Amino acid sequence: MAFTQDHLLGIEPLSPVEITTLLDLADDYVALNRSPDKHGEALRGLTQINMFFENSTRTQASFELAGRRLGADVMNMAMQTSSVKKGETLIDTALTLNAMRPDLLVVRHPQSGAVDLLAQKVNCAVLNAGDGRHEHPTQALLDALTIRRAKGRLHRLSIAICGDIAHSRVARSNLILLGKMENRIRLIGPPTLMPAAIGDFGCEVFEDMEAGLKDVDVVMMLRLQKERMDGGFIPSEREYYHRYGLDAEKLAHAKPDAIVMHPGPMNRGVEIDGSIADDINRSVIQEQVEMGVAVRMAAMDLLARNLRKQRAAVA
Ligand code: NCD
Repeated sequence: MAFTQDHLLGIEPLSPVEITTLLDLADDYVALNRSPDKHGEALRGLTQINMFFENSTRTQASFELAGRRLGADVMNMAMQTSSVKKGETLIDTALTLNAMRPDLLVVRHPQSGAVDLLAQKVNCAVLNAGDGRHEHPTQALLDALTIRRAKGRLHRLSIAICGDIAHSRVARSNLILLGKMENRIRLIGPPTLMPAAIGDFGCEVFEDMEAGLKDVDVVMMLRLQKERMDGGFIPSEREYYHRYGLDAEKLAHAKPDAIVMHPGPMNRGVEIDGSIADDINRSVIQEQVEMGVAVRMAAMDLLARNLRKQRAAVA
């Protein structure tokens, strides 16, 4: 099979062929999800545990739905009320769960690298649902699927990623994925919200929205990640909206058929104008949510196939 990973910890280790394999399978799952009987068998008999150490609405719900639609037993660990609050370390929590013999562990954690560490301690497939500022691979994959379906391809597109790049694992995973698929990427935002090592990514950087958006095919907006900021990154939200908030005037610089994306949760009136977010001719924000379920089904299906193979080889 063209997908050889044991875990989905980031986009970094994936080859373009693996990305395409996963997206092709996700397309099949979009069709299943649109049919009246949404049930598949790929995860039947398997146990999926979702551990979210950080708040989440869409990601957790869509991982849960994805697992259930494919027949897994899904458990959501309430990390806010668990023994973590009593001081248990991440590794102890992981070992405890591991003893319950899960097959798929879905983990979100505020620290970059925490999910990789955990994957080394357990005997099941681990999926990163976002670790600090590091990676959020299923978000980048669902964004890729949304772009591919809207534009008919996933290469040679001009894509602008706008706003709080420095704090965003979504931006990081997208940069890596879209780069691997040979797109032209522009980063737009104030210098205070650009990562220090921006030169390493090989993309064009703009401080000005009008110039950065000129003739792009895709406009990807990011949330201002206030919870990861410790002071003076922006003068005020009003000023930020004025310079970087996506409104009709700024969007007019992009191609006439450019699509608008946002991973959610949105701050309307801060990074995006509500009327643009709701414009069904431009915004694909709801499609992104729909693709999220399908992409997570595909990711867990592919990992489960490898897991079953590996276990059969050991037995
Ligand atoms: C993102 C996240 O948590 O990284 N949200 C998401 O998964 N849909 C982006 C964000 O929080 O701004």
